Amino acid sequence: MSSLRVLISEEQIQTRVREMGAEIDRDYPNGSLHLVCILKGACFFMTDLARSLRRETYVDFMGISSYGKSKTTSGEVKVTKDLDFSVEGADLLIVEDIVDSGVTLTYLIHLLEQRKPRSIRIAALLDKPDRRLRPVQVSYVGFRIPDEFVVGYGLDYAERYRNLRDICILENP
Ligand code: IMP
Ligand code: MG
Repeated sequence: MSSLRVLISEEQIQTRVREMGAEIDRDYPNGSLHLVCILKGACFFMTDLARSLRRETYVDFMGISSYGKSKTTSGEVKVTKDLDFSVEGADLLIVEDIVDSGVTLTYLIHLLEQRKPRSIRIAALLDKPDRRLRPVQVSYVGFRIPDEFVVGYGLDYAERYRNLRDICILENP
């Protein structure tokens, strides 16, 4: 039987996302910020983060697939939807749900750097540092979590559980 155990509550998430927004606002002294939301998991986090920013903010989406239905990385990354806007000269903030092996973000940063933005930083709601295979610098981390498989607030297991309000550990999926 699979079961869900709350790891981070809705209230904790909302408080932390507002703090992250304030921190990001402080760090970028002026100008607009382009959020690059990684589909699909990060879009729940992105909409809350975007609304906590007080500066001019643009949002765009990028589809990346690396996992398929399995729980571990295949090491293969594919762009399934590209950005709508040009990012040349822009301050980009990649918004990701969770950094696990780091394979996805390493690939994405390499890809986006070729488009000559002014800056690229990463905001990730969750970080599982124990699982890192590729080093990535994440400027804004919501929560560091242990090596457990989590779902909710955008995160899925085989496309299920994204709509849960809390982040939960999924046992015996
Ligand atoms: P990475 O390339 O291994 O860093 O993979 C990052 C992606 O793997 C995330 O965007 C998630 O889609 C997925 N992922 C990694 N860990 C989890 C988890 O615990 N729950 C759900 N998805 C996860
Ligand atoms: Mg993802």
